[in-house]
Amino acid sequence: MRKGLTNYGDAEFSLFLRKAFIKGAGYSDDALNRPIVGITNTGSGFNPCHGNAPQLIEAVKRGVMLAGGLPVDFPTISIHESFAHPNSMFLRNLMSMDTEEMIRALPIDSVVLIGGCDKTVPAQLMGAASAGVPAIQLVTGSMLTGSHRGVRVGACTDCRRFWGMYRGEEIDQQEITEVNDQLVASVGTCSVMGTASTMACVTEALGMMLPGGATPPAVTADRIRIAERTGAQAVAMIQAGITPDRILTKKAFENALMVLLAIGGSTNGIVHLAAIAGRCGIRIDMDEVDALGRDIPVLVNLKPSGTHYMEDLHKAGGLAPVLRELRPFLHLDALTVTGRTLGEELDAVAAFAQDVVRPLDKPIYPQGGIAFLRGNLAPEGAIIKQSAASLELMEHEGRVVVFDGLEDLAQRIDDPDLDVNADDILVLKNIGPKGAPGMPEAGYIPIPRKLARAGVKDMVRISDGRMSGTAGGTIILHVTPEAAVGGPLALIESGDRLRLSVRERALDLLVSDEELARRRDALSLPAPREGDGRGYRKLFLDTVTQADNGCDFDFLRSLNEHGSIPQQR
Ligand code: FES
Repeated sequence: MRKGLTNYGDAEFSLFLRKAFIKGAGYSDDALNRPIVGITNTGSGFNPCHGNAPQLIEAVKRGVMLAGGLPVDFPTISIHESFAHPNSMFLRNLMSMDTEEMIRALPIDSVVLIGGCDKTVPAQLMGAASAGVPAIQLVTGSMLTGSHRGVRVGACTDCRRFWGMYRGEEIDQQEITEVNDQLVASVGTCSVMGTASTMACVTEALGMMLPGGATPPAVTADRIRIAERTGAQAVAMIQAGITPDRILTKKAFENALMVLLAIGGSTNGIVHLAAIAGRCGIRIDMDEVDALGRDIPVLVNLKPSGTHYMEDLHKAGGLAPVLRELRPFLHLDALTVTGRTLGEELDAVAAFAQDVVRPLDKPIYPQGGIAFLRGNLAPEGAIIKQSAASLELMEHEGRVVVFDGLEDLAQRIDDPDLDVNADDILVLKNIGPKGAPGMPEAGYIPIPRKLARAGVKDMVRISDGRMSGTAGGTIILHVTPEAAVGGPLALIESGDRLRLSVRERALDLLVSDEELARRRDALSLPAPREGDGRGYRKLFLDTVTQADNGCDFDFLRSLNEHGSIPQQR
């Protein structure tokens, strides 16, 4: 109760007043003298991915009290992908600041972070890493799968698949309405290896979650039991002094990146890990990650890279079989929230036969799920989820068809007169961190309707934006620097030729340096839009970093004594 007193110039009076107020809620001195565990309540009527938050909070409280602590929940912002305008990434840093400052402001000795939907877990880990109080992550868990006319379906790989069929006129209005009822069969996070599932697995690999905590579905007894144990562990962490800086080391981030590659995880995971690492003074070197990906194949057979869903991964043992296969690569001495190492936790889990996680010598894709590209179009890099791309398009040269932004895309993509062929490359500019703003998940550029009708399922698509982890296709994302700050993407014009070679990790615009210099001289950056000059939006536009630095705000990243980001520690 003494921690972080409100400042009235008299500390004893501040404590007296604080106790008087909280006693108004019926607490006794005995309760108030216990270690206090804060619980972030991110339940919201607009966030069905967190629809089980009340049950989880009740279970966490039970665990805290069984371990002798006092649990107190408090609200923070809740972000759901479909209820976040202009997009959820725009709000992630706001949630991280909210989480950090509430952890600092409240008299809590440790905190249970209840997140789930895509941006919530990275926001909470970023905030907790900066706040420095013992913290443990709990996720809401995945939703159940549904069934449409006898076919198993789940958000959101199947959302995109059915919408593509509807656009291509393979299914009618009645069927698309029917499937809309089945795609999200319960509360919980998306049922495939999208960003939420990716961040859950990656957080367990980081050591910031109880072993086995990533995969229990939202509505299961396993999920409730994990919540109870998480509460108890939050008390133990106070006694053991396990703060985030002891867990979030360079080794832990390398473990997390290896898991990200092996699960065929979301490309968003790279951006979020870079942001969390940045809060710890660690810079993730994308070329090193690419090198890891040449050794570590995709082992988890989940959509969108494979065929199964999260509930299948849970029944197959969760993340443990993945970690077991990765054992030769992992830093097994990395500390976890339990106070034991990743290796010790892994030794404690029994192995059994299953067919969702493949052995290293029989992967579902021979390299890591994500590859990094460079070239004159992306001097600071770009990314492709190669495990969900079309093999025949990974080495491709073609003519580009350029869209200047989301409005231009919406106006022209389905124009019957659009000059586009199946072997062209679609390019979308100005959807980067500053461009849209918030780097929306619009990198999954739809196939032009006239080509979709002709049966075209995939094309090479390039942008400075992101893509949902539930999507697939030959899609190049995070082109850095983005067009809106004058990156080379701003110079590309329809009719140019472009070469993609995933084998060579190359993305090159086949236009002479002289011509590019001429275009640069004539380039004018996008004019400010209405609303750009005030409030959170101004803060965002003034301080957001590029994708390779996690799109965190520059002033929130951890600085060394020289005021710069150290390469590693
Ligand atoms: Fe919340 Fe997919 S929309 S996890």
